[in-house]
Amino acid sequence: MKQIDRLRSLGLFEARVPRYTSYPTAPVFSPEVGAAQQTKALAALDPAEPVSVYIHIPFCERLCWFCACRTQGTKTLSPVESYLGTLEQELALMAETLPEGLRMGRMHWGGGTPTILPPAMIHRLAQAVKAVIPPTEDWEFSVEIDPTMVDREKIAALAAESMNRASIGIQDFDPLVQKAIGRLQPFDITRACVDDLRAAGIRSLNADLVYGLPHQDATRLDDTVSKVLDLGPDRIALFGYAHVPWMSKRQTLIDEEALPKEMERYMLSELASRRFREAGLESIGIDHFAKPGDGLAIAARTGRLRRNFQGYVDDSCATLIGLGASSISRLPTGYIQNAAATPAYVERIEAGQLAGARGHVMTEDDLLRARAIEMIMCEFRLDLEDLRADHGDAADRLRPEIALLRDRFGDMVEVTGETLTIRPEGRALTRIVAKHFDAHVPEGARYSQAS
Ligand SMILES: C[S@@+](CC[C@H](N)C(=O)[O-])C[C@H]1O[C@@H](n2cnc3c(N)ncnc32)[C@H](O)[C@@H]1O
Ligand code: SF4
Repeated sequence: MKQIDRLRSLGLFEARVPRYTSYPTAPVFSPEVGAAQQTKALAALDPAEPVSVYIHIPFCERLCWFCACRTQGTKTLSPVESYLGTLEQELALMAETLPEGLRMGRMHWGGGTPTILPPAMIHRLAQAVKAVIPPTEDWEFSVEIDPTMVDREKIAALAAESMNRASIGIQDFDPLVQKAIGRLQPFDITRACVDDLRAAGIRSLNADLVYGLPHQDATRLDDTVSKVLDLGPDRIALFGYAHVPWMSKRQTLIDEEALPKEMERYMLSELASRRFREAGLESIGIDHFAKPGDGLAIAARTGRLRRNFQGYVDDSCATLIGLGASSISRLPTGYIQNAAATPAYVERIEAGQLAGARGHVMTEDDLLRARAIEMIMCEFRLDLEDLRADHGDAADRLRPEIALLRDRFGDMVEVTGETLTIRPEGRALTRIVAKHFDAHVPEGARYSQAS
């Protein structure tokens, strides 16, 4: 059987599976776990362990039709400024809660579009965070940047606050594809943004691309890939377009007839991946590429690659504190998500409490499976012996799943002793393999397609 038929027979094109940026996944979170648990877990943090901080800015000047991110469009800065005031209040509440001496090893601003903030607000936000959780000496500060919504002054303000990594949204450079996703982004504007970021000292630059967009075909994507390589990013994220109009209403503007069909979609992802590898980038996890000297590639080679809500990271901080509407914190006790809608988030903070609204308390079995799934997503392998180091004999609980995968996915995985490895030809099935270790089946959750 041809490889593609075999992948199809194992469910690649039909399966709807999580992207596993956390385990359990967010649909499993319960409203029983909220601000009270958040306050307790934050107060109990060990100040000797630096934390990561994520700040969500849910605003964009334009709303791209394909986008599934939690964000809202605005033509004026007044809602942004008012939101910044709420973030400052949230930080003040954190200051009352966090242990003395806690430091920040990483900070990431995402969205939405953080570069909607003008320079004065960039400084206000960065200073407010640093006042509550001062950075460590070798901290890293990364920001998601829309090249059409940034200028030199904003980049200078971010650089003055020590931004040293950036991620730019590209998606596709073809004019027909851009029109079909409601996102016009000329190459020369993107080039100018990259030049400004490099001149500002950014040493690790990521570019986001999406395959499976309307009207994308091999010729158009090939051209986009050439242009992206010309920009010389250190990392590339190549996401499969998640068409989830039941979650993201703006996607109803996408012409479904123009979406590449399953087989074309698979070929598009193969084409871009091949070109990136030929250009000397290393393949990282299921959808990232990085120059060999970039931190992400080094982490992957040394077994330190991790997966969190930002995707693949080389971040070693165990704790992630999320600020802003819909942000998720990963605390030693489990996950807590802030109220997702901005008005609900603001209401909670203004009432003088933290904004945690849903969450999950990790059991010992969750911790074991979370690490197993992370290993599969990061390294395409699961080694019970490695798991035993932190989880003891509980690791043996995963033997039935490994046996099932050996029987069902025989030619796509290899099982030797206590190790399951996904073969290179089976890597498109990684999320499906990971799902075998997921013990939670959230009611009514609808995920995006696996391919
Ligand atoms: C917050 S946005 C990026 C920052 C900035 N707002 C911009 O547009 O340049 C995060 C990224 O998520 C990805 N993304 C958004 N919606 C997606 C979808 N439906 N399917 C796959 N990837 C998606 C895009 O690659 C996008 O660049
Ligand atoms: S892709 Fe970026 S700019 Fe476009 S709607 Fe999503 S977050 Fe906003």
